[in-house]
Amino acid sequence: MSLSDQMAAASISTSASALKHAFSDRVPIRSILCLPDGGASLSGQRVRVGGWVKTGRKQGSGSFAFLEVSDGTCPANLQVIVDASVADLGSLVQTGTCVQLEGTLKEPPEGTKQKIELRVEEVVHVGPVDPAKYPLPKTKLTLEFLRDVVHLRPKTNTISAIARIRNALAYATHTFFQNHGFLYIHTPIITTSDCEGAGEMFQVTTLISEADKLEKELVKNPPPSESEVEAARLVVKEKGEAVAQLKAAKASQTDITEAVAVLSKAKESLSKLEERFKLKPGIPQKDGKIDYGVDFFARQAFLTVSGQLQVETFACAVSTVYTFGPTFRAENSHTSRHLAEFWMVEPEIAFADLKDDMNCAEAYVKFLCKWLLDNCFDDMEFMAKNCDKGCIDRLRMVASTPFERVSYTEAVDILIEAVKGGKQFENKVEWGIDLASEHERFLTEVKYQKPVIVYNYPKGIKAFYMRLNDDNKTVAAMDVLVPKVGELIGGSQREERYENIRDRILEMGLPTEPYEWYLDLRRYGTVKHSGFGLGFERMILFATGMDNIRDVIPFPRLLTPRGASVTDFPPRAQRITGGKMLGRLFGKPKQETNALSTLDKLNETLEMLEKKEKVLIKKAAAEVEKAKEFTKAKNKRAAIQCLKRKRLYEQQVEQLGNFQLRIHDQMIMLEGAKATTETVDALRTGAAAMKAMQKATNIDDVDKTMDEINEQTENMKQIQEALSTPIGAAADFDEDELEAELEELEGAELEEELLQPATTAPKAPVQVPSGQRPVRPAPKRTAEEDELAALQAEMAL
Ligand code: 4AD
Ligand code: MG
Repeated sequence: MSLSDQMAAASISTSASALKHAFSDRVPIRSILCLPDGGASLSGQRVRVGGWVKTGRKQGSGSFAFLEVSDGTCPANLQVIVDASVADLGSLVQTGTCVQLEGTLKEPPEGTKQKIELRVEEVVHVGPVDPAKYPLPKTKLTLEFLRDVVHLRPKTNTISAIARIRNALAYATHTFFQNHGFLYIHTPIITTSDCEGAGEMFQVTTLISEADKLEKELVKNPPPSESEVEAARLVVKEKGEAVAQLKAAKASQTDITEAVAVLSKAKESLSKLEERFKLKPGIPQKDGKIDYGVDFFARQAFLTVSGQLQVETFACAVSTVYTFGPTFRAENSHTSRHLAEFWMVEPEIAFADLKDDMNCAEAYVKFLCKWLLDNCFDDMEFMAKNCDKGCIDRLRMVASTPFERVSYTEAVDILIEAVKGGKQFENKVEWGIDLASEHERFLTEVKYQKPVIVYNYPKGIKAFYMRLNDDNKTVAAMDVLVPKVGELIGGSQREERYENIRDRILEMGLPTEPYEWYLDLRRYGTVKHSGFGLGFERMILFATGMDNIRDVIPFPRLLTPRGASVTDFPPRAQRITGGKMLGRLFGKPKQETNALSTLDKLNETLEMLEKKEKVLIKKAAAEVEKAKEFTKAKNKRAAIQCLKRKRLYEQQVEQLGNFQLRIHDQMIMLEGAKATTETVDALRTGAAAMKAMQKATNIDDVDKTMDEINEQTENMKQIQEALSTPIGAAADFDEDELEAELEELEGAELEEELLQPATTAPKAPVQVPSGQRPVRPAPKRTAEEDELAALQAEMAL
């Protein structure tokens, strides 16, 4: 029985035992709180639940405690009440503590938000947390901060909501294609062919680890010297002569056999010595090139950039197929929409042309949007409240509106018209260009304000496998562009004519040998066929309104100094500044002096920004500490002021993060591309933006400020230790409570001003690089806002 069936059945029988998880000793919190009546009908039922404490506070002079418990099955928490007679409340109330609890569900008193709460009778398990060490305090944390604790971030509301949405989209994907008779094919991860022909592949080789091993072995067991080999040769010669002499002297068979055995041994040790003598440290070479013949697969191999070529082999045999798996690209793209490891959904349809392909893509995207509205609404509401107000409306719009379809040529004309009308793009618009993100977003967000399919691109900018149109200039390609993201899908009708595709491979300077098997599909029983690839993370970005792709994949892998996890991915990615990293990756930049000095400058700026970020994070933490002290001193107003300041610091941290991303983009542009006019312009704009930012954050002497803050934090700690009661210094400090009060005080308008995320879609495309976030028109000021303005002035915001 599915969960929803179970829940429907339970709501009729109101039996909690029916809701117990089949393979786990608990009732999932979702199946209590997501009943149509919010769980009220389960009142009086005894249940066992398990989860982690989001917030906990003692009440009634420590006689009982309220816990908000989440098991990650839904966005809502279960409210739990534990008496001091049942368990030690001190360890239970700490945020992050794991609890397994048994008790009776009760309807709370009138007027409370919850429809049901749990009165605990037995604490079955406690997984404690030391609050002084737990990296995820109760405070609202920035996504930027969470990226450094990737292994713990699923415990946060945002990341767990995204995980559920991601799961729903995967389920919906299989449902859609299975419903339409597609066969799910598992295409390989390791391949020898470059599907996109762009050379952006990660290599798979054992040559390096083998060379490392050999090097260590040779240090431990040095190879023989030439004279040792020579000596062994002499021994063989001697032993050979001894055998010959014995034979000549007609010695006994036993003596001869013995001498032959000695000779064989000598030969054996000589050949071992000769073999070891040949061993050379380093990567094996042949004719001055790396000898891949001795590599694991006896040839060069890579991680796949797309499963398309392999899935085509099945489309050309079983007609309608799809693959859904991880793909890898060693692209020089450090943007908020690129990952080095991402997931792609790739259907492939035989007997289908470009129009069929576009129809399939449109139907699939619509299906995904509708699925989220029908099956994941609580999580979507969470995203709308906390991340992007417009995300639900966007899903509704896409699910119900036909996509616009324009040819590439028409799209370029529209962009040229827009430029004539005063629109400024960073990249020049003319027929033949690869549309840049800013162009794509203009088309979908400004011009049409809905998804747009652009088709028939110039052949020069597309992959070799796309079908050449009769005009000989364009290919039957299509990209689906959506608001907020730009390119969501790339696809095409495939070139099914043998001569044409062979010529295209040659034309693009690709070797034909790795594609011979692919050409066979055209040699034997060729068929018109089409397909596309949907970037799964881009779909999640689009659905949730999240800004950065690294927050919608559980473990981001990307070209970045900060994206990888601490736990399972500690190499260069951790905190190596951009310039150093690029240096290591690419060696010397091409535009020696100019680019180097600019790169150095950008690198310095980046380091400065990182320092600033640290200062701000420390300042925010110090404000929380101060708020605790004020709370203890019963000065709530001052505590709230501290929290306000903390929020402002956090906003600045977020902004700094965006600036860092932009600087990275620029560094990569500079590194990879020729110093074109656009690059120089972009750098200039970036530098101006940096200056503005530096002015805005107003921390001139970063090192001095850092020292001061460290000192302050130390003082604060000492005061806190001196003041701390046996229960712990923060026992009475409930940041959520204070935040709630703060929110009430601020009122709806001010709230918007303070917390509005940078992007509410649909909106005008972001100019990269650009200055600070767009400033909203000033609303009418309330007394609280005046106060806030004074605070901002104080902090030179
Ligand atoms: O347009 P692309 O490169 O198309 C292909 O790979 C085809 N072989 C697909 C096919 O026809 N079967 O990539 C498809 C989609 C893009 O539209 C984008 O959404 C996503 O994959 N994508 C990325 N997503 C995250 N990080 C990256 N580095 C991405 N590169 C492409
Ligand atoms: Mg593409």
